[in-house]
Amino acid sequence: MSTANGTTTVITNIASLVTNDPSLGDGSPLGLIQDAAVVIDGDRIAWTGDSREAPATDNRVDAGGRAVIPGFVDSHSHLVFAGDRTQEFNARMSGRAYSAGGIRTTVAATRAASDAELERNLTHYLAEALRQGTTTFETKSGYGLTVEDEARALRIASAHTDEVTYLGAHIVSPDFADDPAAYVALVTGEMLDACAPYARWVDVFCEKGAFDGDQARAILTAGKAKGLHPRVHANQLSYGPGVQLAVELDAASADHCTHLTDADVDALASGDTVATLLPGAEFSTRAEWPDARRLLDAGATVALSTDCNPGSSFTSSVPFCIALAVRDMRMTPDEALWSATAGGARALRRTDVGRLTPGAYADLAFLDAPSHIHLAYRPGVPLVDQVWRRGVRVA
Ligand code: NIG
Ligand code: FE
Repeated sequence: MSTANGTTTVITNIASLVTNDPSLGDGSPLGLIQDAAVVIDGDRIAWTGDSREAPATDNRVDAGGRAVIPGFVDSHSHLVFAGDRTQEFNARMSGRAYSAGGIRTTVAATRAASDAELERNLTHYLAEALRQGTTTFETKSGYGLTVEDEARALRIASAHTDEVTYLGAHIVSPDFADDPAAYVALVTGEMLDACAPYARWVDVFCEKGAFDGDQARAILTAGKAKGLHPRVHANQLSYGPGVQLAVELDAASADHCTHLTDADVDALASGDTVATLLPGAEFSTRAEWPDARRLLDAGATVALSTDCNPGSSFTSSVPFCIALAVRDMRMTPDEALWSATAGGARALRRTDVGRLTPGAYADLAFLDAPSHIHLAYRPGVPLVDQVWRRGVRVA
């Protein structure tokens, strides 16, 4: 076939292909094609369809009856950190409650770490995520909480992804415990100036023990004025103003959404803000599950993501989160797969990832299974057995 971008490759003999284009295949939101083929041209998808109609290409790969899905788009992680919080987890599993305060432990370890250590840690968890099918990821600062430590976290992250989020407002820095207003002034002033060049997004943990609605509004508004787009840690541990603030400020995503009023659900259903659910956090903090069914039935767009961080959710596994979402949050396997791919892309306002349609990046995973349903049906089994990113096999 004629080539626009480089070498062409056809992947044939795909038992079921998730395209996330509802105009294809079975017409469902997943645009599922049975006995399918995909053509890759350089770093992009060039064609999808019936395996028997696949055009001739430079290379040919036989999927051997496996399922192929878009690479996962993990739109929420905190991977620039040092140390771990094993003992905090252990205490929690013996009955202690999770609170925002544990973040301080990771702040101390992160400040003490060298740039090289932070980068080694980041690349370690990225490789782990990639092996499990994640081809696009967002990550945040938030464990530095000084001008220099926040800026270096973002500088390190920006060497590995375009989806970098400034979270100087993770908690009030322990150095400002007696003067939170002065910390908000730093976060919206000098720290923002130092961080904005490395970031696309601005985030705030809007929660009791972190930042209230007025502080969150000031932080997100200041970030917007600097060209950053908002996303919000909202309504994780308690009811609060985060979700409605996110929708009002046209945040790309309100993340967690564990404690929602009917007005919060209505706001998410009526705006463009995606509700990003992070079941790894509820699992690891032994908290009640977000009600995905209620959000979906109201018409909200739902994304699923890992929230990978050493405190509340130390998993890089999107398949694990899909299994939790299906079993415990009442999502169907189709909904969960969509939310972890196209939903994540929506939460990052991207149209070039999270789908396997002509023009999108050739980011995909082969499953050692005939269908994506097995991700929830066979929980804990490492089903991802090939990962391709930008048209190249990387795992
Ligand atoms: O998304 N909620 C705030 N931030 C993280 C937890 C960070 C931590 O405990 O270190 C989260 O769950
Ligand atoms: Fe988070």
